[in-house]
Amino acid sequence: MPETFDLLLKGGTVVNQDGAAVRDIGVTDGRIAGIGSFAPEQAGQSVDCTGLHILPGVIDTQVHFREPGLEHKEDLESGSRAAVMGGVTAVFEMPNTNPLTTSGDALADKLRRATARMHCDFAFFVGGTHDNVKDLPELEMLPGSAGIKVFIGSSTGSLLVADDPGVRAILKVIRRRAAFHCEHEPRLAERRELRVPGDASSHPVWRDEIAALTATHRLVTLAKEEGKRVHVLHVTSAEEMEYLRGVKDVATVEVTPHHLTMDAGWYATHGSLVQMNPPVREARHRTALWQGLAEGVVDVLGSDHAPHTLEEKAKPYPDSPSGMTGVQTLVPTMLNHVAEGRLSLARFVDLSSAGPARIFNIATKGRIAVGYDADFTVVDLKRRVTIRNEWIASKAGWTPYDGMEVTGWPVGTFVRGHRVMWEGELTAPSQGAPVRFMEALAKG
Ligand code: DOR
Repeated sequence: MPETFDLLLKGGTVVNQDGAAVRDIGVTDGRIAGIGSFAPEQAGQSVDCTGLHILPGVIDTQVHFREPGLEHKEDLESGSRAAVMGGVTAVFEMPNTNPLTTSGDALADKLRRATARMHCDFAFFVGGTHDNVKDLPELEMLPGSAGIKVFIGSSTGSLLVADDPGVRAILKVIRRRAAFHCEHEPRLAERRELRVPGDASSHPVWRDEIAALTATHRLVTLAKEEGKRVHVLHVTSAEEMEYLRGVKDVATVEVTPHHLTMDAGWYATHGSLVQMNPPVREARHRTALWQGLAEGVVDVLGSDHAPHTLEEKAKPYPDSPSGMTGVQTLVPTMLNHVAEGRLSLARFVDLSSAGPARIFNIATKGRIAVGYDADFTVVDLKRRVTIRNEWIASKAGWTPYDGMEVTGWPVGTFVRGHRVMWEGELTAPSQGAPVRFMEALAKG
């Protein structure tokens, strides 16, 4: 009697730790139960993946979904719909909502709002502040907590721990790897007058690479002194990349698809639409990010999906808010880089699933292996599509890539065995659940 499954993905090229080969995947109870060659009769449902590549579910470890408090820009349902439309199976969401996610109650509230309403799986970062330091050891271990996030430089919202004693106090008490937004606040404060009204291209002049490097250097120095591991979010400068290659024992590194795709020339065509923190910079920085990626210094991709409405973005710089949508375009823009030869498909998988699992100690995600969650990003590497604002599911309703043709497209999204997106349509009710972490596995 051959093995039977709930679901079979038939005939796709599976890309995992074994390399890439045509294999069938059997799924039972939301977990991968077999990898090999199986007959359609061995499963209740069979999905033909011939000609498609099946990647481990893409995990976007940095998104801002704005709920509670800023739901006119996004909410957990719309943000997660954007995620699965773009092939993303799990997200880590940021704490700069209103109220801020800085307490157990605020985290519990987000988990309640998210469960079975979000379309993908999720975890929430808890904001580290001067006031909640003593609570952080408990908060970072709560189910559904992605760990602690600290803004060392101010960005959207009021979260800020700009001083070394404040950062050190947080590092001292935590056990998990925490995530940091690194821009040196005193330098941002003293350079504010470099912002040219109406000209977003002055954004990287104000928030320059020295501001980024100074904060990253301060953070890593403190982390070494305290014997702690840190994750440097959205690294943007050649100088940081050069520094970070020497401190890989302590620091992991995220880059965004935006900073890999755009350079300062985009301000001329897109203005404040491409204004984000830290900023898109001159081309030499983008070259250095690609070099860091090629050399393995970069651990993960995070989209830093940070939606603002077009009306908000239309305010003249510097009143325009920083941030752009990105969760839905992460896979297509990066597959386009694969198609154009800037990285391999294997490296994309490493950055978008294995990398997040490794650095955040995610349980049963990040690999296509028996016993792991049946999370898959199914892609057509050859499909050519022009990205359009109309495709964007975010409430913001726009992307800086409107009009850009890409090669490589997310065709399907599976979350724990549920086919949630296929060929651009939502195909299952929302069933998102918290991502589980090794350090905080629920007993039982
Ligand atoms: O550009 C950004 N926007 N950078 C951040 O760090 C925050 C984000 C937002 O929440 O809008």
